[in-house]
Amino acid sequence: MKSMSELSHEFLKGALHRQAFCVDGTLGSGRDSAFFLEQGADLVYAYEVCEELYEQSCEKLASPHFHAFLKSHEFAGEDLEAAGRCVDAAVFNFGFDPRTIAGSCTKAESSLKAVLAVLDAMKIRGRMSLVFYMHEEGQKEYRLIMDAINCRQDTDLLECRRCDHPGAPILVCVEKKKAVQPSEKGVKWN
Ligand SMILES: C[S@@+](CC[C@H](N)C(=O)[O-])C[C@H]1O[C@@H](n2cnc3c(N)ncnc32)[C@H](O)[C@@H]1O
Repeated sequence: MKSMSELSHEFLKGALHRQAFCVDGTLGSGRDSAFFLEQGADLVYAYEVCEELYEQSCEKLASPHFHAFLKSHEFAGEDLEAAGRCVDAAVFNFGFDPRTIAGSCTKAESSLKAVLAVLDAMKIRGRMSLVFYMHEEGQKEYRLIMDAINCRQDTDLLECRRCDHPGAPILVCVEKKKAVQPSEKGVKWN
């Protein structure tokens, strides 16, 4: 059976094309960004807070189509506004990089800010995949983000989970279906 990460790539393929602008909210070892680049994306913005992982991945993925930021994804909104273009596809693979002891775990509140900022910058029929891990902070992250997205009226949502492994990662596939008015967002974040 495919992993949630592989399934997330299958879902994202439907929003990718040669001019695609993509966001990798959690760069880590760079597998998700590498996927976007392999698919021929025009520009990938990626965020990472761990300097070691950031440097390793920047070296591995160096390309005029790849731009990484050594900062928290919660500040992505400013970069996306400055980029002046809509996001076609985004991925957030939450938690920590299991191969790097120095890596830090994503936090529910900053993850929520990042997801909502990317969703706001996303084009209609743009796609975002969210992979949650069910440790304590991951469960909080999942509930906070799902409550916020469920309040909005601009997305279609599909959730994939292993019925036989309750502790296994959960994939949430999000497709933007319309532009949202500020009053419809249903959640305040700043
Ligand atoms: C599960 S890993 C990501 C895997 C990665 N996408 C890949 O393909 O290899 C999660 C990553 O998020 C990073 N991270 C934690 N908090 C973050 C934040 N606030 N902003 C951006 N990245 C963060 C961690 O350091 C870790 O490398």
